[in-house]
Amino acid sequence: MRFLLITAFLIHLAISGLVTPEQIHISWTENPNEMRVTWTSFVPLDSWVIYRPILCNDPQHNSFDFTQVQGNYTKFNEGTVTVRYAFIYTSIIKNLLPDCHYEYYIQNDASFSKSYIFNGRTPESVNSYRDVDNKLNMIIFGDWGTGPIGELTSALLGIDSKVKEFTGILHLGDIGYNLNSDDGLIGDMYGNQVQDITASIPYMTLPGNHEDADNMTHYKIRFKMPYNEYNQGTGLFYSFNIGPVHFVTLNTEVYYREAKSDLQAEIQLEWLKQDLETANLHRKKRPWIIVTSHHPLYCSYDFTELDGTERNKCCGHEAQFLRDKLEDIFYYNAVDIFFGAHLHAYERMTAIYKNITVQSEYDDYNTHKNPKATIHILDGNAGNHYAHNADITKTPQLWSQYRTNDYGYGRMTFHNKTHLLFEQVSDYTMSVIDSLWVIKTIERF
Ligand SMILES: *[C@@H]1O[C@H](CO)[C@@H](O)[C@H](O)[C@H]1NC(C)=O
Ligand SMILES: *[C@@H]1O[C@H](CO)[C@@H](O)[C@H](O)[C@H]1NC(C)=O
Ligand SMILES: *[C@@H]1O[C@H](CO)[C@@H](O)[C@H](O)[C@H]1NC(C)=O
Ligand SMILES: *[C@@H]1O[C@H](CO)[C@@H](O)[C@H](O)[C@H]1NC(C)=O
Ligand SMILES: [Fe+2]
Repeated sequence: MRFLLITAFLIHLAISGLVTPEQIHISWTENPNEMRVTWTSFVPLDSWVIYRPILCNDPQHNSFDFTQVQGNYTKFNEGTVTVRYAFIYTSIIKNLLPDCHYEYYIQNDASFSKSYIFNGRTPESVNSYRDVDNKLNMIIFGDWGTGPIGELTSALLGIDSKVKEFTGILHLGDIGYNLNSDDGLIGDMYGNQVQDITASIPYMTLPGNHEDADNMTHYKIRFKMPYNEYNQGTGLFYSFNIGPVHFVTLNTEVYYREAKSDLQAEIQLEWLKQDLETANLHRKKRPWIIVTSHHPLYCSYDFTELDGTERNKCCGHEAQFLRDKLEDIFYYNAVDIFFGAHLHAYERMTAIYKNITVQSEYDDYNTHKNPKATIHILDGNAGNHYAHNADITKTPQLWSQYRTNDYGYGRMTFHNKTHLLFEQVSDYTMSVIDSLWVIKTIERF
């Protein structure tokens, strides 16, 4: 009888959606051959990730049997107006084999999730058959939220990632608009909207201004990014190496508004200098350095308002402020491409230093061969919740190459140590609307 009651109670919870694991997403950790799985339920329950290696290059690595690893939860009050407790679970699958894919699902005492598959390739993992030619496909964008516009990207990227295999996703801040809105319901809705994508492809994030609220509490709990001594487990800035690339993510909120913090800005800057110095020691093995943050250093979108009055804010004095802090560090460490977001638009720029285009050994509209300064790309229009995107600029600067306010996202394909192809995909035309080859036969550093 008692058993029946408990069972009936759990069935009731399952129907009301409180126990079913949701908002599942995966991310790389600070260690090789690990995958973090994060999910939410609204009742605390013993929960596990159930997984097995499949489709391995070495058939002996395949496993018919599943392994399980328990998740730990943080009890988190998502609300500010009302109390809404969520239980945010995280678990790390260790000893991944890079030649395998992994099938997994989340199981708890009352329910279980759909199953998902991810690639066992992680930062620093070696000997993957996919590493043979070092080819690496990454997705990059900023400013993605819920609602019909965000759904455009969910739909297209969902299909794109079934046709092509992407190794990872970089989301350059402004996530869900806002994670904390409506007592966290919006953050939960977003987590479910993107789940089919983020449960299958490592989803690496950095914070934007929409994550600022309450000292970024929602961001830090929902998105656990790699630990380093400087970020002290906040994951607000970090770097990782994968294939021929060193990726760096920065938290530019330390310079602006609510999240402004001189101390954190200083710590991050010290870390950045050391990080790039170390990356440059390995430039032969890993020639590409890509740096990302929410706020851009260059763009030509809001120099004027729609009515023609001068505004000059995000692309003006705010961008200039960031250039004063970061541009020389990028230049002297030969950073190949810097990606920013925040403006709801896409803009591809040339290799720039001090507001002037720096000629490469060879340039045409879609190629820079042996660039001599950092190339800047603004990619901030995966679909902001408000549907307000930056108007096509009336003041394109001399270094501006291509501009659109189509919703969409970027793809980076590192063909090898010398060839990188960047493509911007439009949600409207459902095709590539802009592309750039970066070719490096000599190392600048
Ligand atoms: C979960 O908690 C156990 C026991 O405290 C700990 O050993 C383990 O590392 C934790 N796992 C994660 C993913 O935090
Ligand atoms: C805000 O968060 C940062 C990083 O997580 C931490 O160092 C700082 O002490 C926090 N500030 C407040 C006022 O809680
Ligand atoms: C940057 O160059 C543009 C021309 O492309 C010029 O209009 C603008 O004033 C310059 N900005 C600064 C901060 O020097
Ligand atoms: C690198 O990739 C490019 C583009 O696919 C190709 O043309 C070139 O031959 C490759 N280089 C090497 C050394 O494989
Ligand atoms: Fe923003």
